[in-house]
Amino acid sequence: MSQPQLRPLGATLGTEAVGVDLSQPVDEETLGWIEAAFAEHPVLVFREQKLGPAELAAFGRRFGKPKIHSLVDYRHDDHPEVSWLTNVDKDGKIDWFGVKRATDWHTDSPYEDEPPRLAILHAKEVPSAKGGTMFADMRAAYDALDDAMKARLAGLTGLHGRHDGPYGVRLYEGDPEQRLDRKYTEKARPAVVRHPVTGRPILFVNPLHTHGFAGMSKDEAWPLIEQLAEHSTQDRFVYYHRWRVGDLLMWDEQATMHRGAGDYEPSERRIMLRTIVYPN
Ligand code: SIN
Repeated sequence: MSQPQLRPLGATLGTEAVGVDLSQPVDEETLGWIEAAFAEHPVLVFREQKLGPAELAAFGRRFGKPKIHSLVDYRHDDHPEVSWLTNVDKDGKIDWFGVKRATDWHTDSPYEDEPPRLAILHAKEVPSAKGGTMFADMRAAYDALDDAMKARLAGLTGLHGRHDGPYGVRLYEGDPEQRLDRKYTEKARPAVVRHPVTGRPILFVNPLHTHGFAGMSKDEAWPLIEQLAEHSTQDRFVYYHRWRVGDLLMWDEQATMHRGAGDYEPSERRIMLRTIVYPN
């Protein structure tokens, strides 16, 4: 195979990996190429792919452990480490929870025992317009903070839970209780982490799941979390991915925050497969 190529999609994030066929088992050389590209480009897009849930889980396993998501109703029946991200319910009607789900800025599951390494979405059906996913570059966002804020964050530990942050209550307001198969306790994570390969500092605070800082009252913490979210989601740090059927997109769960744009016509079908991968 000739060497795959990288093509930028957005000003900051979003990079297309051209010349990789993920329907075939990925050889070691290609895997090494993907890992090297992903270390520098934390939103990597492979076009025109056609993977079923088994192949998606197998691809995820090349990077770590795809884990069964706690949200029971969206699990794939045969491959529970893969979930549906869909706005269509089992009867073919609009699933309003699916429409609204994950449309606030977040990183996935930082309240698990160990935060995930990466996630992968594979588009099967997409709306005719919009319906994208937005990603914020938390490395660039950290770099652009002033020195006083960097010094303040260096001493802070974020407290991560499910939906109790400044945006959390709003997200699920009015939604039926979704079935979870486990309970979570608060997890403490440094507010600034380093990328394991490049060593670049990353702002690891998100407004959905970071609901405080150790030793700080919520009255003090929530405005700080909102200030950091506002800073990180300025246009200059954000990439909007416009989905095409067949896109397989992997993102770094620490170097980025993301959200569904939630800007499409809900009666149009939007169906993807997703797996979230944890470190081995
Ligand atoms: C997610 O948070 O995984 C979903 C993003 C999306 O719906 O575009």
